[in-house]
This record gives sequence, structure tokens and C-alpha cells, in this order.
Amino acid sequence: EKGTYPHYMLKEMDEQPAVIRKIIQAYQNEQGELTIDQAILDAFHDADRLYIIAAGTSYHGGLIGKEYFEKIAGIPVEVHISSEFGYNMPLLSEKPLFMFLTQSGETADSRQVLVKIKEKGYPTITMTNVPGSTLSREADHTLLLHAGPEIAVASTKAYVAQVAVLMVSASVYAQSQGKTLDFDVVKELGIAANAVQAIVDSKEEMEQIATEFLATTRNAFFIGRNVDFYVSLEGALKLKEISYIQAEGFAGGELKHGTIALIEDGTPIFALATQQAVSLNIRGNVKEVVARGANPCIIAMEGHEEEGDRFVLPKVHELFAPLVAVIPLQLISYYAALHRDCDVDKPRNLAKSVTVE
Ligand code: M6R
Repeated sequence: EKGTYPHYMLKEMDEQPAVIRKIIQAYQNEQGELTIDQAILDAFHDADRLYIIAAGTSYHGGLIGKEYFEKIAGIPVEVHISSEFGYNMPLLSEKPLFMFLTQSGETADSRQVLVKIKEKGYPTITMTNVPGSTLSREADHTLLLHAGPEIAVASTKAYVAQVAVLMVSASVYAQSQGKTLDFDVVKELGIAANAVQAIVDSKEEMEQIATEFLATTRNAFFIGRNVDFYVSLEGALKLKEISYIQAEGFAGGELKHGTIALIEDGTPIFALATQQAVSLNIRGNVKEVVARGANPCIIAMEGHEEEGDRFVLPKVHELFAPLVAVIPLQLISYYAALHRDCDVDKPRNLAKSVTVE
């Protein structure tokens, strides 16, 4: 039920702080430590490479998962779009482990990969929001997202849940292997939940940004480096899906290799700057496009913000930044769609679960 909300999407975006807190609870044992099933830990342990398979927003969540499993747990990861993987399977490692990321657990593109992988006898995990869904039933193991039903076609809280559960699983596995983390996952997730709350409470600001940058534009670009690049891809998908504005996400350095030709006076560029190590580089990329007339909207993390940044995200641990940086992009897309009288919850040509290949 959407209650007093005009749209499910708005309600679901507002639920995101609670979703993060719910995930902490759901994965905590009686001693307050995060845990996941021993059988899943064993599957990670036995694997020499993790293959994450997903579509759309879940694919973007998977890209963040690669960062987490490689940097925190030290397992090499490949992330694949499910519709491509089925017929264009890469050379597999000796002991692959497959993880299917799917909010609905019903996506046909992802399911056909699961069927092929099971035929080959490889171990499988489904990370899904829907217990008892097809991909959950058919995989060896399930990791639940605990986001509650997601009704709006545009996925918001399921993405945030995926990123949080990927963090939980990568870090629990790392610790089970004797690795010491230099951060406390429960504490950092709590801080991220509060940061998300602060952003969903800044709706007027988001609406203003949408008006200022997207009222009349035909196209928009999103740039970032490292994990900010992955969040940019998600920001662009959200915007095109619900507002029908042509939008693309790029790695910060990539625009100048061709796409910069599209920059005209006033072309909106959303630039994410949450990662200290590449902050100067991304700001350099913004200067390049501004010199060609772009209208930049820099969204930076507190602590390394600069004058002229349009929105400052409350400070969180850098690895947790994707949970927070995506929120303004979701809200800005929502208001852009609203201002264009688009059907926010049911965008044209789209279905919530894509059950055809
Ligand atoms: O249920 P799934 O996570 O498998 O769905 C995958 C995509 O169809 C889905 O994320 C789609 O891209 C969303 N509409 C994006 O908002």
C-alpha cells in the first residue's frame, strides 16, 4: 500500500534508511555479530573466482559487489550482464562460484544462465528480495535482501539493499578467513543509514536541482570514477527509465574520448566525487566539459567538498559511499519525471519483472 504517498517510488526511496537497518538486524546473531550461512561461506571458500550475473539495476549493484569482494575479501570477481552471458560465456576459472543478483528472482535473462550453469554442475547463490522466487528455489543458496516488496518499476531500495548485503557477505567472508577489517561494518552501515535519511529529508533541494538542470534538456550525462562510475551508470538508468531524458553514465576520463562532442551550452553533467583518491581527477573532467559549455552539478562527499559543489553528501566511509551517492540521483530522476508528467511508477514500455529473454 502506498498510503499517503503519491507514488510507490517515493515511498520506496523513503524506506531506504529502514531497509539498511533491517539488513543489519537480519544478518546479526545473538551476540550482535554479522553472520551468513556456513554453507555460503564454504562456497566462497571453495571458489577461485566469483561470477556475478544480473540485469539492469541489479547489474549495477553487482559492479559494487566486485569492488567489495575483491577489495575486502580478496576473491577475483567478474560481473556479467545475464542476457549476454548465456550465449557468450567467457572462459571460466577452475572453481567458479555463480551469484545471481535479482530483486524479483524472476528475470528470464538471469534464469536462463542459472539453468545452463546448473547443467554444468557449478555452485550457485541467488541474492534476491523475494523468498521462494524461481531463482531462489533453483539455486543452491539464497541471500535475502530484506527490502520489503518493491512495486515501482524503477528499482531503488532493492539496489541499496543489494549493496548493503554485498558488503555484509564480503566482509563476513573476509573475517571468516582471518582477515581483519579496518572498519566496523555494523557501525558504518548505521552511519550510512543516517546519511540516507538526511538526503531523503532534503527533497526540496532535490526537486530544485531537477528543475535547474533537467527542466528542458534533451540529454544528460553522469560521470564518476571507481565506484562513483558504477553509481553514475545507475543514475543514468534511473533518469532515462522514468523521465525519458536520454542519459548516459561514463567513467570520468572517458567523455573526452568521443562523447564530449555532444556537449553543448547548458548540457547537464552530474559528477560524483565521493572518493578522495580520484577527487582531483574527476574535478579535472568537470573542468573539461565546463570549458565546452556544460552545466555541472557536482555531488561531493563531505570532507572534500569544494566551493561551487551543488550538493554535499553527509560523510560516510568511502566503501559505503555507493549507498549514499545513489540517493540524490534517484530523487532527482523522480522529480524530473514528475515535472514532465511521466507515469513515474509505470514508465512506458517497461514491466517490473522481465520474464521474457
Ligand atoms: O528483478 P531483477 O533485479 O532481476 O530485475 C532486473 C532489471 O530488470 C531491473 O533492475 C530494471 O533494470 C529496473 N527497472 C531498473 O530500475
